[in-house]
Amino acid sequence: MATKYTTPEALIALADGAKQRAYCPYSKFQVGAAVVVENGDVFTGCNVENACYPVGVCAERTAICKAVSEGHTKLVAVAVITNGKTVNFPCGLCRQSIREFGTDVTIYCAKKDRSYQTHKLKELLPLSFGAENLIQ
Ligand code: THU
Repeated sequence: MATKYTTPEALIALADGAKQRAYCPYSKFQVGAAVVVENGDVFTGCNVENACYPVGVCAERTAICKAVSEGHTKLVAVAVITNGKTVNFPCGLCRQSIREFGTDVTIYCAKKDRSYQTHKLKELLPLSFGAENLIQ
């Protein structure tokens, strides 16, 4: 059975667990993510780098792909944690990827010690582009 969302702190702990599996031999920058879908299920992911650097995937998108490939296309929240000293926010690609599956997503951004900031996707990606904008 899938893990269910309880609290932001527990979600960050799940992201931290995924962070331990980060494959980041090039940057050494470990990132873990945990996404909550509409029914409360949680999917986790880590960054997966590649010797051909641009092929690498961020933790957030790993988690999103896991959720979507299990049939969940509505995101409620995303937690991301790194081994960095500063709080890190999802990169531009990940913000757009989150946007595809929800406009009202809450994002918890944590640093190494699990302290975190809370933001809405709309703050991090204002005036965003979505499926409705493809209408010609
Ligand atoms: N990275 C993530 O996984 N998520 C982010 O939000 C920022 C960056 C990864 C990509 C790369 O593997 C490493 O961190 C350094 O950029």
